[in-house]
Amino acid sequence: MNTLLKLKKVNLKYQTGNKAIKVLRDIDLETKAQETISIVGESGSGKTSLIMLIAGLEKASSGNIFFEGEDISTMSEDAVSDIRRRKIGIIFQSFYLIPNYTALENVALTLELNRLPQPITQAKHLLERFGLKHRLYNLPSQLSGGEQQRVAIARAIAMKPSLILADEPTGNLDSENSKMIANILFQYAKEEGSSLMMVTHDKQLAKQAKRSIQIQDGKII
Ligand SMILES: Nc1ncnc2c1ncn2[C@@H]1O[C@H](COP(=O)(O)OP(=O)(O)OP(=O)(O)O)[C@@H](O)[C@H]1O
Ligand SMILES: [Mg+2]
Repeated sequence: MNTLLKLKKVNLKYQTGNKAIKVLRDIDLETKAQETISIVGESGSGKTSLIMLIAGLEKASSGNIFFEGEDISTMSEDAVSDIRRRKIGIIFQSFYLIPNYTALENVALTLELNRLPQPITQAKHLLERFGLKHRLYNLPSQLSGGEQQRVAIARAIAMKPSLILADEPTGNLDSENSKMIANILFQYAKEEGSSLMMVTHDKQLAKQAKRSIQIQDGKII
C-alpha cells in the first residue's frame, strides 16, 4: 500500500509568556493509504496537537510532514488549506455545525465550496446513508448529539477524503451512540478506501483500528 503520511522529526512548541512548552517531541511516523489507526494516550499527552499538525491547522516548530508525498510543513497556508479542503475530513468532539443552516445545508455547503455538481442531491444521499433522511431540514439545535455528529461526519467525508481525522468523535456521546458513530466511521473508511485516524479514550473503539499509536508526554511510544 502507498504511503499516505510521513512525519520526520516533528516538534511542536507553544510559547506562553517567556516559557516554551514542548508539546510534541521528535515524532517520526509513517502511515499507509487506507490504514485505520487509533491514537491513545493520557489527557495532555499531545493527541489533539498531533491531529492539528497533520490537518495543517497548526504549524510544526521543526521537522517535516508529508501528505501524499507533498511537504505540507513548508507550504503556504493557502496551499495547505486547499489540500485540507479536498483531501482531509476532520471530525471533532464538538460538532461545530453552522447553527442557522439545516443538516442538509451544512453538508451541501462543503460540496458547493468545492464546486461539485449537484451538492444538494449528493448531500441528501450521504445523510440518508447515515440514517438521517427524516432530519434533512432540521437545524443542529433540533438534533440529538448522535444525529449532530452524523451530520458532522457526512460533512467531513462529503469530498471522499483520503484521510479522515477524528478527535474523540464520541467524546460527547453515550455508549450506544458512540458505537454507532464508530461503526459508521470504520465502515465508511473501509468502503471508500479512506484512511482513518481516530483519537479515543475508549479502549473498545480503539481496538477496531488495525493499528494503535500511543502518545506519552509528546512522544510516540
Ligand atoms: N494553544 C496552546 N498553547 C499552549 N499550550 C497548549 C496549547 N494547546 C495545547 N497546549 C498544551 O499542549 C499539551 C497537549 O495538549 P493536547 O490538546 O494535544 O492534549 P490531548 O492529548 O489531546 O489531551 P486530551 O485527551 O485532554 O484532549 C497540553 O499540556 C496542553 O496544555
Ligand atoms: Mg485532545
